[in-house]
Formats: sequence, C-alpha cells, structure tokens
Amino acid sequence: DLAGHDTYMHKEICEQADAVDRVLRGRIEDRFSTVHLGGLNLDAREARAVRRVKILGCGTSYHAGMIGAQLIEELARVPADAEPASEFRYRNPVVDPDTLYVAVSQSGETYDVLAAVQELKRKGARVLGVVNVVGSAIARETDGGIYVHAGPEVCVVSTKCFTNTVVAFGLLALHLGRIRDLSVADGRRVIEGLRRLPDQIAEMLRGEDAIRTLAKEYAHARSMMFIGRVRGYPVAREAALKLKEVSYIHAEAYPASELKHGPLALIEPEVPTVAIVPDDELLEKNRAALEEIKAREGRILAVAHRRQDKADHTIVVPRSEPELDPILMGIPLQLLAYHTALELGRDIDKPRNLAKSVTVE
Ligand code: F6R
Repeated sequence: DLAGHDTYMHKEICEQADAVDRVLRGRIEDRFSTVHLGGLNLDAREARAVRRVKILGCGTSYHAGMIGAQLIEELARVPADAEPASEFRYRNPVVDPDTLYVAVSQSGETYDVLAAVQELKRKGARVLGVVNVVGSAIARETDGGIYVHAGPEVCVVSTKCFTNTVVAFGLLALHLGRIRDLSVADGRRVIEGLRRLPDQIAEMLRGEDAIRTLAKEYAHARSMMFIGRVRGYPVAREAALKLKEVSYIHAEAYPASELKHGPLALIEPEVPTVAIVPDDELLEKNRAALEEIKAREGRILAVAHRRQDKADHTIVVPRSEPELDPILMGIPLQLLAYHTALELGRDIDKPRNLAKSVTVE
C-alpha cells in the first residue's frame, strides 16, 4: 500500500518521524537519565566488563554501524568500530572474550552477517543483534539485542531503517554510557536531543520542494563526491551509496581531509561535491576543504546548520546535540537521491542488479 506516494522509497523516507518515535517509545527512563532495553540480555556487570565493541553489517547497515561505533565511543568511552561482516569473516579474526559483538541487519537474513554471527558463537563470543525484522535468522541466533522498529521496508534501498538503526545505537550508547562515566546531565542532554528528532525530521521533510529543485540542478553530473569528517564521514558514505543505487550516478565518499591526497584530481565543474558541514569543532577545517574545491571550480552542495558562503547551495538542517547530527544530516540526502533518480526516470523501488535481502554469499 503506497498510501498516496509514487514509490515505496518516498513513502519510507516520509515515514521517518513516526519510525523514530517508535524506536524511542517505552525505552527512555527519565528518572535515571538512561534507557531501558528489555531484550539486551546483558546485565550491568556484564555490560561494565565490555572492553571493546565490534559492529558487523553490510551496505547501509554497515554505515549505520559506523555511526553506532562513534556514538558508543563518544557516550560510553568504550573503543568501538564497525567492519563489513564479510571482511571480518574472511580474515580469521581474533575473537576476544572482552569484546561485545553487534550484528546489524534490516532483514535479519543477510548471509554474510549471519555467517559472522555463527562463527563468533562457535568461538564463544557474546553477540547482540540490532535488527529490524522480528524473529529473523540473525535475531534468533544472537544472544539478545535491540529491535529497530522501523516497520516493514519494501523499497530495495534502505532509508527509514538506516535512521532507526542509528537511533537504536544511540540508545545502546546511552545505556553503556550511563552504567559507566556518562553524567546525568549529559544523559539528559542526549535524551532530550533524541526526543526532538521526530519533530525535526518532520520539519526537514517539509523542505522537500527545495531539494527537488536541487536534484534537477545536479542530476546530470558525471560523478559526485561526498565528503565529511568524523561524524560526517559515515553520512557521506551512506549518501553516496544511496545516490549510486537509485540514480546510477557514480559517487565516491571520502573523509574531507583525504581529498588533497588524491581525489582532488577529479574535481571539475561536471563533478560536484556534497559536503557535510555541521557547526561543530571541525567547522573551520571543513571550510578549508570547501575552499580547496572552489579553487578547482568544483560546484558544492553543503548540508549544514547554516548557509555556507563557499558553497553554491546549502541544505540547512535543524541543530541537534552534536552526537546526533548524523541522524538529521542523512535525511535530506535520501531525498536528494530519490529526486535525482526520479528526474532520470529510474526504477526507484527496484534498482537494476539489486535485491532486498542478500541471502547468498
Ligand atoms: C542499501 C541496501 C543494502 C543493504 C545491505 C544489508 O540501500 O539496501 O546495502 O543495507 O544489503 O542488508 P540488511 O540490512 O538487510 O542486512
């Protein structure tokens, strides 16, 4: 049921305010500025004993895991990183008893993720799932976890599940943080930031017309660069993936500082750059990257908290708590990918060569 939308992709992008509301519902404990995650199956003592977090997923879920790892490091101060599940499996990883492994999957059926979970369990590791489909294979094989509650995702490319997965990681990071060193005040600050998300998402979605206009402007690009730093880098990666998948425009994502180490050679008017530029401690560094691009006559579309004078266009997103910026900054770029694909007449819900769940190797 498309409910008046022309595609599931559009419907699912527009459902995100409600979806984020669902992943938060019933989980926030204001009295202790923390969250309650019923299905985690990890008691406080076990959670305090975690020395590292390793997140495994594929595609968009891997990108959500990259942001999840940053949230866990920032809020819980536990070293964390994300890796594509297939790479992890094939490098005969050291499986460490003090590491908490987290498998991320919308479908819960992705073969590479499932096989990684099974291998980890065989080696005695503790594995949690951050999964959307209830009762799926990965949900069943993990020791516990968090359901993402994005609701059914029909479009082959993932949008609302990405956003909800990142929010679910925010909850996990808060939980781990509050049983360690995260203060009551910081816990409350992040909770208030999470609570504002649904309204802020709704506000951004009301700006869709402007993004449609921008999509027309950039739809005939030969290739597109996406850049960001730290919190902005996984956002850039996910936005580049979304654009490739639905529009078939070639896109690359780089940490902004890596530009001068090679990809700057590609910059010219036919190769525009989308830059993630939050008003955080890296703003000045990001501005310098925009200048480097302008000096090569590159066109720039910034996603920022306020208009960027070095950019040709800016999509202004609402301010959030800095740790939560990636959640809001990803959403207009889903709309940009969608409208670009629409402009080019692509088969948006079923891009060529892709399947919704990849249950083979
Ligand atoms: C991107 C996309 C894929 C999936 C990937 C993992 O839009 O849909 O990259 O994210 O195949 O799928 P799940 O999350 O079901 O494990």
